[in-house]
Amino acid sequence: MIKFEHVSKQYERNGVITKALHDINLTIERGDIYGIIGYSGAGKSTLVRMINFLERPTEGEVIIQNQPLSSLSTHQLRSVRRKIGMIFQHFNLLESKTVFDNVATPLILVKESKAAIKKRVYELLDFVGLRDKAENYPKELSGGQKQRIGIARALANSPDILLCDEATSALDPQTTQSILALLKKINQQYQITIVLITHEMQVISQICDKVAVMERGRIIENGSVLELFGHPKQRTTQNFVSSVISDAIPTGVVENLQAIESQHTDSALFKLEFLGRSATKPVINELILQGKVVVNILFAHMSEVQKTVLGSMFVQLQGGQDDINQAVDYLRDHEVQVTKIEEKGINGERS
Ligand SMILES: Nc1ncnc2c1ncn2[C@@H]1O[C@H](COP(=O)(O)OP(=O)(O)OP(=O)(O)O)[C@@H](O)[C@H]1O
Ligand SMILES: [Mg+2]
Repeated sequence: MIKFEHVSKQYERNGVITKALHDINLTIERGDIYGIIGYSGAGKSTLVRMINFLERPTEGEVIIQNQPLSSLSTHQLRSVRRKIGMIFQHFNLLESKTVFDNVATPLILVKESKAAIKKRVYELLDFVGLRDKAENYPKELSGGQKQRIGIARALANSPDILLCDEATSALDPQTTQSILALLKKINQQYQITIVLITHEMQVISQICDKVAVMERGRIIENGSVLELFGHPKQRTTQNFVSSVISDAIPTGVVENLQAIESQHTDSALFKLEFLGRSATKPVINELILQGKVVVNILFAHMSEVQKTVLGSMFVQLQGGQDDINQAVDYLRDHEVQVTKIEEKGINGERS
């Protein structure tokens, strides 16, 4: 329902050209919670501003519900925009207006009747849990409350799409949780497609179904959240994933390991990665029961992403070379991804 076809964008100021987006191709389906992640300056905000045509592409086409935006008249564009809500990192509330008036603003713009506005505003304030703040001013609210008002305002015209540009970046972790839960509820209850920009992988792992990773104006990797967390291909994606799923052995463990290593010559160190089915099967237990190798678990880490368990484990296998090889084959046959770690890679270098 949102489609980018070969979209590029460059800015020109005083003869200096900045290429903000290069040949973006992306499809966001109706009902998706689609995350866009990237470091500062990657082009995330530019990309999301193309969806409501606040920025126009230099090349390519943005298509919303089968309508190429460049083909629309000003009037048609206005009605497409009305169905797209947006929330921001710094909330963008009107400080001189009450909470009620802030939420009412988009309804006043489309000339709703006073009675209809009142009904809708209270409905929205109930939805975000802040009916009692209707007569307060934004400065009298906490950050989390301000974002709830931002959300209520964005939902005023019953949009099909909600754009969130770093909507939780100014909030503490607990408040972030509650805002993410609210976004999920919006997606489920009203089937609103959500495009969520963030530089925090934690946020992606909590509510997104799909994710695109941006770097220097390009999408370098995209797909289902589970796929990307399980098998990140690009270096930047791996860095983001490792912020949620630990990719390194803690230093204390490394020190222990070096002590163990000096005692056993017939041993090898492996990183095991479990995804989905393999994470719920007692594979390691069975390997231990076979009794051919000693399994020394050094460090393990499990996370839940999209209701699926993802895990990584660092193990030392001790035994004869043939037994170790057989153990590795056994693990691979049971859908465990096995990577041998050379000593130089002990601190979590992916090989
Ligand atoms: N209006 C503008 N005029 C000129 N250059 C711009 C403009 N807007 C963005 N840029 C440039 O385009 C590039 C991408 O910017 P953008 O704001 O999309 O990045 P971002 O990924 O949202 O970064 P952040 O995480 O810091 O918000 C940057 O190099 C930026 O300087
Ligand atoms: Mg930005």
